[in-house]
Amino acid sequence: MTGGWPSMPRVDRILEHPGYIREMEQIVSCEADRIFCGHGWEHLLDVARIAYIHVLERRLPITKDLVYAAALLHDIGRAAQYREGVDHAEAGAAFAERILPEAGFTPEERKLIKVAISGHRQTSSRETSDALGDILSRADKQSRMCWRCPAADDCYWPEDKKNRTILY
Ligand SMILES: [Fe+2]
Ligand SMILES: [Fe+2]
Repeated sequence: MTGGWPSMPRVDRILEHPGYIREMEQIVSCEADRIFCGHGWEHLLDVARIAYIHVLERRLPITKDLVYAAALLHDIGRAAQYREGVDHAEAGAAFAERILPEAGFTPEERKLIKVAISGHRQTSSRETSDALGDILSRADKQSRMCWRCPAADDCYWPEDKKNRTILY
């Protein structure tokens, strides 16, 4: 049910993928007692929506479902990180590579998403870059509500990197 609004069938296929659901459930359960920013549904949607605002503001030729797919998958490697201690960006990119063909994304789109996920941890010096990966990385940081964070005293983020107000 979309209330008449256009839906994103390829994104729905990610959300319905049993492997994706399993990894997300593991992340949510592993982070149940986490005091720092989490990587559950709210975070993923915050990142998707902020990233898409960037695309709209800059009138970039990036489709909405590509942005949402990248955002919904960008931290999926956290499950593997909690299980095996691997880098979550690389694990997430590998996971995306496995499920994106089933969701219907083209080889070119898969490459864009994969690059965006594997690079999302880098703090971007490319503040004005329009590449999907840089948009994702910016949205990831901008999604954090540092100004009201209950774990601020213990957070490893440097003070000058913390968000002091609402940008998006
Ligand atoms: Fe991440
Ligand atoms: Fe994230």
